[in-house]
Amino acid sequence: MSLPEKGRGLEELLAEIARIKQEDLPVRGGKVTAYVYDTGRPEVHEAASRAYFEMLEVNALDPTAFPSVVEMERQVVGAVAGLLGGGSGIFTSGGTESVMLAVKAARDSRAVGGRPRMAVPVTAHPAFHKAAHYLGLVVDAVPVDPVTFRAIPAAVEAAITEDTVLVVVSAPSYPQGVVDPVAEIASIASARGVPCHVDACVGGWLLPWLREAGAPVPPFDLSVPGVTSLSCDLHKFGYSPKGASVVLFADPELRRRAYFASASWPGYTIVNATVQSSRSAGPLGGAWATLQALGRDGYLELGRATLAAARRLREGIAGIPGLRVLGDPESALVAFGSDEVDVFVLSDEARKRGWFLQPQLSYAGIPANLHITVTGVTLQGVEAMLEVIARSAEAARERGPVTLPEGLVELIAGLDLDALDDGTFGELAASVGVDLGGSGQPEMAVVNAVLDALPADRREAILLRFLSVIYT
Ligand SMILES: Cc1ncc(COP(=O)(O)O)c(C=O)c1O
Repeated sequence: MSLPEKGRGLEELLAEIARIKQEDLPVRGGKVTAYVYDTGRPEVHEAASRAYFEMLEVNALDPTAFPSVVEMERQVVGAVAGLLGGGSGIFTSGGTESVMLAVKAARDSRAVGGRPRMAVPVTAHPAFHKAAHYLGLVVDAVPVDPVTFRAIPAAVEAAITEDTVLVVVSAPSYPQGVVDPVAEIASIASARGVPCHVDACVGGWLLPWLREAGAPVPPFDLSVPGVTSLSCDLHKFGYSPKGASVVLFADPELRRRAYFASASWPGYTIVNATVQSSRSAGPLGGAWATLQALGRDGYLELGRATLAAARRLREGIAGIPGLRVLGDPESALVAFGSDEVDVFVLSDEARKRGWFLQPQLSYAGIPANLHITVTGVTLQGVEAMLEVIARSAEAARERGPVTLPEGLVELIAGLDLDALDDGTFGELAASVGVDLGGSGQPEMAVVNAVLDALPADRREAILLRFLSVIYT
């Protein structure tokens, strides 16, 4: 971008933003089954936007300068604690930051002899690996049950060492939407004197409403003995604009371990509850307004619609030849795989028909599959979605699986990425038909097939390079 010589008018800027956003997936309407959470009620999103805008310029850095932040945060955190078993909380920018703070608090609450370690089921979100990477912990990956995809209590117990500072469970884990055996694992952790974090980022503001709507949801929150902290994202099933999550701690002393203060400089005093210092109170305003605009009734009604849509979707997918739902999710996340059609091709076929189904690579014995996050809006279009999945599966069957040029995977696996500059990497990708500079609706099946054939560390190296190339 070149900085314009002279400032430009609002209308022109808005027109340009509309052009820039042209190729984005739509954030409303229910045809994008990941990333976005739609109530299907424009007035709720309108209230959130207005409140976001009202709080936009307020800096949450200093609650003494802007007491509105304290009042709003107490209300929002209080609502989350009220639904999820109490505790003291922090409003954060998202699941990753909530997890980061829970891991920091656990790390700083107990000194261990070696490097602090975390027992983390393989289905837990990579936010834990990121937190470990940033905060200097070691992750002990724990296998899950290959049929139910739930963490295995005995395997978690076996992974606990003298240096373990945290045990992690998910409610639910994102990939297959299943809830780990929270009570059993929290009790094991407690018996070993180790804190237990429940990652309810995606389920915290969903499962209670599904339960109230009649779904069998096991206990998973801070009222479960042994659970010491819990993360719950409001920018997922709370339907708030992005930048909204809450991390709760059973004990205020543990919450204090998440805080940071510094007086080691000659400037203003720093005391932060979050990773970020200066930050807009816009997301807090947006979350506050969304909770207020929907209320208990609104969330319960959305929960009912979500439950009905998830049930219909699971049953419908199971009826499509060649497809099968993975696991038996208690939540509204549905993953399906196939031994007969290439799911990555199916995803591309759905995208051609205007729907985005999220590809998930095979990992730890779990096959490649497609993921659908059912939200409040899904029910209205669930039959259309099933029709698209059926037609896309048929088309994928006709097209057959992606065939990669012989030797390509081995070539990529053996590449010395450090010896390649971004330009050469881009050319290499283009030579196998992957246009990293392209926009619009990319065919992703080849990319996904290549990634799927690589081990995780090579996938990561390729993804990092991809990011670097697209931002060149
Ligand atoms: C279970 C779980 N934990 C953590 C996260 C990370 O959340 P965020 O993307 O808000 O950082 C996600 C995101 O999908 C999730 O599903």
